[in-house]
Amino acid sequence: MENCRRYFTPAISLFCAFSIVFVLILSGGFLSSSFKSFPIASKFKFEVSVPTAALQRTVSPISDHQFRAVRFTGSSGGLEMDRLRNSTDVTVIQKQPRKSFSKKQELNQGLARARASIRKAALNGNGSSIIIQNGDDFVPDPVIYRNPSAFYQSYVEMERRFKVYVYREGEVPMTHYGPCKDLYTIEGRFISEIEHGAKRFKTSDPDQAHVYYLPFSVTWMVKYLYKPQSYNLTPLKQFVADYVRVVSSKYPFWNRTSGADHFMLACHDWGPHASRGNSQLYNASIRVLCNANCSEGFNPQKDVTLPEIRLYAGVVSPKLLSPPPFNAPRPYLGFFAGGLHGQIRQFLLQHWKERDNDLKVFEYLPKDLDYFSFMIQSRFCLCPSGYEVASPRIVESIYAECVPVILSENYVLPFSDVLRWEAFSIEVKVSDIPRLKEVLMAVPEEKYKRLKENLKAARRHFELNQPAKRFDVFHMILHSIWLRRLNMRLG
Ligand SMILES: *[C@@H]1O[C@H](CO)[C@@H](O)[C@H](O)[C@H]1NC(C)=O
Ligand SMILES: *[C@@H]1O[C@H](CO)[C@@H](O)[C@H](O)[C@H]1NC(C)=O
Ligand SMILES: *[C@@H]1O[C@H](CO)[C@@H](O)[C@H](O)[C@H]1NC(C)=O
Ligand SMILES: *[C@@H]1O[C@H](CO)[C@@H](O)[C@H](O)[C@H]1NC(C)=O
Ligand SMILES: *[C@@H]1O[C@H](CO)[C@@H](O)[C@H](O)[C@H]1NC(C)=O
Repeated sequence: MENCRRYFTPAISLFCAFSIVFVLILSGGFLSSSFKSFPIASKFKFEVSVPTAALQRTVSPISDHQFRAVRFTGSSGGLEMDRLRNSTDVTVIQKQPRKSFSKKQELNQGLARARASIRKAALNGNGSSIIIQNGDDFVPDPVIYRNPSAFYQSYVEMERRFKVYVYREGEVPMTHYGPCKDLYTIEGRFISEIEHGAKRFKTSDPDQAHVYYLPFSVTWMVKYLYKPQSYNLTPLKQFVADYVRVVSSKYPFWNRTSGADHFMLACHDWGPHASRGNSQLYNASIRVLCNANCSEGFNPQKDVTLPEIRLYAGVVSPKLLSPPPFNAPRPYLGFFAGGLHGQIRQFLLQHWKERDNDLKVFEYLPKDLDYFSFMIQSRFCLCPSGYEVASPRIVESIYAECVPVILSENYVLPFSDVLRWEAFSIEVKVSDIPRLKEVLMAVPEEKYKRLKENLKAARRHFELNQPAKRFDVFHMILHSIWLRRLNMRLG
């Protein structure tokens, strides 16, 4: 968090003056368009939905690879993506300008080698004969990973090869900068890390890149472009449309794949909405989103779930940094405190609000009580969706070593292509909320201990470090993007 501020403090003072000018320039194009009122009820209606069958395929462990369900246009891009889809590990000779030909061929060969080695490792499913590199602290736990060998190999290949090109277009605050505290902190932390840390993954040569990053912050767009209470998200979409228009006319990369090797990242609830500013971005690009609602166009085959991490004042609470010892008593069965946002919480509060001495459920927590103290004193922490599917409580529970109870629908959990969430969390159907206490009490002590142990092991993948550390949340996000670029799924 220090760095997050350090990088940008000098720039902050310029923001105010600058952003006004910037907003004026940008808004010129769409001020004229009618600001129709945006009914709240239909705020999140999307036309595109992913069939349940496709989702089930995605979450069920399979050993084979599957392919992206997106269309590609453009001749050379089409050919490249065709090759990805056919998944033959032969490099296709393309008619390309001589100069970029060899770099591109090299890049494709590298990807083909990575795929081949991951596939080979994947056959050794449970990780029993995985070769861990010297000095590596990876534990190939077949309980928390779907396929520890495939994941480890894929991770190592990512470190060896993966290169991200960050477009330089745009100015702070809405590009190259994002929030570094509070609910959407991950937007700012990712941008900061990819632009100023992570030297290993960043390339300044776009011909050597595997993916291209559009470094805008939807949270800052909402702050600077959105007119409060208007429910008009057009300015956000317009900004995104403009950004894509600029980079796609200035460089050849977007048109080559219709944006399929490009990614955006947004934690704000309106991230998916902003991405509708460009149809190719919405339909073909990798969208890394906290609001990963698969009934609202989130497509886990190409999109990535971003964990929501709330940092009050930019830091993790000390209580969560060092949770109590493993066997310390946890007097409460379960805990939740939060606003009456959305239907699931309404249902939860209706049944459990201040009803039970073991299952502590509050609509806002009384001022004299401490939120994180409750978390570290509870066996289970309830993580219901609010106005949107993601909840920062999931990561907080992991930090607190309080077993998360997932209460959501249509939510694709973060890193679920790698991690077996069932090993360290409990999913309770919304319709079972009235029986919640019974369900939690029925978890045998043995199983609870295992869930907690696994939670401890999974924790590293959700930690934010500055600078980033191997296998931490930054690297896991990158790894999810890497997998989408490889067009591979790990069984
Ligand atoms: C991919 O497979 C299709 C049908 O199997 C074939 O027609 C096409 O030529 C292949 N493309 C490449 C680039 O190998
Ligand atoms: C992993 O698989 C190997 C053979 O495929 C088997 O011998 C071994 O017992 C398995 N280990 C675990 C932990 O399941
Ligand atoms: C990419 O395609 C768009 C739309 O067809 C076009 O306006 C733009 O000039 C193209 N970009 C390049 C670099 O050719
Ligand atoms: C995205 O793809 C869907 C389904 O193919 C299509 O109906 C829709 O028009 C596309 N969206 C946009 C914004 O182009
Ligand atoms: C997910 O999307 C569906 C379909 O739009 C919607 O009904 C539901 O409320 C969304 N879930 C959340 C928690 O926002």
